Amino acid sequence: MKKILELIAGELKPAFTGCGYEESYAKANLSNRPDLCEYQCNGAMAAAKAYKKKPIEIAEEIVAAVSGNPMFAEITAVMPGFINIRLNGQWLADYLNGMAGAEKLGLEKPEKIETIIVDYGGANVAKPLHVGHLRAAIIGESVKRMGRFLGHHVIGDVHLGDWGLQMGLIIEELRDRQPDLPYFDENYQGEYPEEAPFTIGELEEIYPAASGKAKEDSEEGRAFKERAQTATLKLQSGYAPYRAIWRHIMNVSLADLKKNYSSLNVEFDLWKGESDAQPYISGLIDSLIEKGLAYESQGALVVDIGEETDAKELPPCIVRKSDGAALYATSDLATIVEREKDYHPDRYIYVVDKRQDLHFTQVFRVAKKAGIVPADRKMIFLGFGTMNGKDGKPYKTREGGVMRLERLISEVDEAVYERIMENRTVSEEEAKETAKIVGLSALKYGDLSNQAAKDYVFDMDRFISFEGNTGPYILYTIVRIKSILKKNGQMSPEARILPAVSEAEKSLGLELAKYNEVLAVSFEETAPHKICQYVYDLSNACNRFYHDTKILTEENKEQKESWLSLIALAEKVLETCIDLLGIDAPERM
Ligand code: ARG
Repeated sequence: MKKILELIAGELKPAFTGCGYEESYAKANLSNRPDLCEYQCNGAMAAAKAYKKKPIEIAEEIVAAVSGNPMFAEITAVMPGFINIRLNGQWLADYLNGMAGAEKLGLEKPEKIETIIVDYGGANVAKPLHVGHLRAAIIGESVKRMGRFLGHHVIGDVHLGDWGLQMGLIIEELRDRQPDLPYFDENYQGEYPEEAPFTIGELEEIYPAASGKAKEDSEEGRAFKERAQTATLKLQSGYAPYRAIWRHIMNVSLADLKKNYSSLNVEFDLWKGESDAQPYISGLIDSLIEKGLAYESQGALVVDIGEETDAKELPPCIVRKSDGAALYATSDLATIVEREKDYHPDRYIYVVDKRQDLHFTQVFRVAKKAGIVPADRKMIFLGFGTMNGKDGKPYKTREGGVMRLERLISEVDEAVYERIMENRTVSEEEAKETAKIVGLSALKYGDLSNQAAKDYVFDMDRFISFEGNTGPYILYTIVRIKSILKKNGQMSPEARILPAVSEAEKSLGLELAKYNEVLAVSFEETAPHKICQYVYDLSNACNRFYHDTKILTEENKEQKESWLSLIALAEKVLETCIDLLGIDAPERM
């Protein structure tokens, strides 16, 4: 189905052209004065300048030209030159019935179906997931779902950090702890064991221990770090015993990561990582040199990325260190080479901490300069802010340590469980299950409802509240509608939404009609918070309507079923939208 704003513009266009004005002035917007009108067209104001006329005169001409159009209940010219519009109730009811009967509730397909890579998650292998990774997972998952639901071919890639110094650190720490392992015997000839020499629990302890050692400001600390660097280089150049350890680390860590992501309802299509890009690095470097883009600077190989329009000078992108090692940027560039070859995406969306802004500016510019991607390829960096505690600093445990994701999730679930048990309407077991679903909604919605680039404060009490702009409130609205529909039972097949008879009912209909627009805009702007804003507005409209209308006791069956159909549509729109946020609704709460 077409978007409402386009349909309105479609009716205004012949009026504008018929009166001798450019068609482009016939644009409709949502009203910013809902007390005065539902939609407005400001085209007469804009045309006034071009045609040297008074805006109000143009507005009056347009209004006269569309008078009698069945789409509008009211269309008026208002000083200084606005065109205010209210939709006809029957027209709106028809549109809503159309949505209710259409696939994906009448969602319009994008003009061009794109292949889109969403690079999100970004966990580092062998390091425990912490809350910093939470945002990447939650926001990226939502962006992926939005694009896919619109009809794009979207590929989500976790892009693991699986090739860095952490590997060398683990190898050397392992050597110190278990020097007798065959990986450390240079004369060992046999097969390496299938079984990893550590469990995930041990691995999670090995890495921080090693990393702590390497940071020590002592002779020993520096020596350990050097060993780790050498081991990393050896691993990267293919030394078989270290590759074998690397595979163990990958296996053990991946199993754990998958479990963690799935508890967040986050799924990836590709479990690739920095290591997969390695085969493309030497070709990449050669071509950067060949094209005359890369040059030596203090022993390193760099590419200039400055552009005339830059407000301040940007540092060149280092693609090879003086010791020959590749860097983070090299790996991201090589990954683009790989992705171009395998998927040829029309768009890339990277969901990463906003502090990596410069890194991605460098990577995108080099990729375009070097022709790895064409100059008009959409390369989007969706940088997100930090999740802070109430003290305004990155969120920590009560003891002041780094908060592990698992622990955060279980703390939220526990708090929601207690809240549910306060009412004591369900069994303990059901409350536990429900708490998991509602807890996840609290966590995700609390995050997604903020503009991604902004830092936000994790406020448990507010996030789990059943009132206000929260996940639980949205779920509560859905559950409430479901229970009304259930109470009523089967509806007759001819049930239809009729023209609204109250202000609250009309407002709910108008909210529902925004659906198509909101989904398209939210994805184009990679802005899940706009979906949150919409589900919140829609939930409020539902609750206001429900509060004002005695639905189940209505005696006129046609009227009653119209209202039930309206809230049933609202329920479907809400559930569709929260699914795009990666949130499910429980049956009861
Ligand atoms: N592993 C990185 C980190 O923890 C994030 C990876 C983001 N994606 C990318 N293509 N660089 O900072």
